[in-house]
Amino acid sequence: MARLDRPDCVENGEGAGAYNEDGIPVVDFDVLINGDSDQRLAAILHLGRACTQWGFFMVINHGIPESLQGATMDACRELFSLPTEEKSEYMEAGPMDPVRVGTGFNSTVDGAKYWREYLKMFAHPELHCPAKPAILREIATEYATRTRGLMLELTTAISKSLGLDGSRIAEALNLENCFQILVGNYYPPADPDVGAIGMPTHSDHGLLTLLFQNGVDGLQVKHDSEWLLAKPIPGSFFVIVGDQLEIVSNGRYKAVLHHALVDGEQARMSFVSLIGPCLDAVVMPIPELARDAPQGAEFRGIRYRDYMEHQQSNKLKENAALDIVR
Ligand code: SIN
Ligand code: FE2
Repeated sequence: MARLDRPDCVENGEGAGAYNEDGIPVVDFDVLINGDSDQRLAAILHLGRACTQWGFFMVINHGIPESLQGATMDACRELFSLPTEEKSEYMEAGPMDPVRVGTGFNSTVDGAKYWREYLKMFAHPELHCPAKPAILREIATEYATRTRGLMLELTTAISKSLGLDGSRIAEALNLENCFQILVGNYYPPADPDVGAIGMPTHSDHGLLTLLFQNGVDGLQVKHDSEWLLAKPIPGSFFVIVGDQLEIVSNGRYKAVLHHALVDGEQARMSFVSLIGPCLDAVVMPIPELARDAPQGAEFRGIRYRDYMEHQQSNKLKENAALDIVR
């Protein structure tokens, strides 16, 4: 991918990193990996601030071609357009099943109408994928591999930003056997006046999430008690800090609350790639971080599989799943 000159980013006063016009941190992955040692250090500090102050940032110059993002979205759109009988096998699946297709159209929860069709595929340690469209398996394999690589590199830098060895988080969570899921979301246009919403407010259960969308905005993140519409730099990914990073960092990095709005006129699509610890890893604050904190460990240990099950199978509000480990 061509290197982006970040025309709509401003350097902050320290020259250590960039923010978009709304103040959302922008992390330049190429600098993080290939910069000279001063640039890499500045990028790591910027990343650490983004995780502390926002739990959310954009990553640019990440090396994943826009054509692969587009092909992934297209394959997903093809799946959604299949007749219902071709998808029905996956529509009966539960939250811990490896492939699931769901529709939330017209279901009303707490007075909000959810307006979404989705495809969820477990992608690591093994990729599970619907048989149709035929192209999906190849594209999902490539997409899962590339985005997992990117998130693992980001995790190394995040580990360093906490003053730890680059491999510390990966070792603690057995990321070699990390869990990964891909999710495609389709939100048809809906009249906002009827109370339609794409996805309710939540934090992500994993470690890190990468998200891109089809050019129609709708992702809102909560920052300093305000909801902000996230507008991406073309070709970038949004990166969302998840609950497991909040736990391992002993609360230094916050899982950001977010939700998706629907558009009144255009269909919106988003595509998510999320990594979490190995499903059997017991996740707890890194002992060095808990030792250095005045209040000690803020969370108790929990097996990631149990956490995810709890978060997925209860109608929890916002990030209430974290309460079971406090
Ligand atoms: C998500 O939070 O998983 C999806 C949000 C979006 O569609 O932007
Ligand atoms: Fe999310």
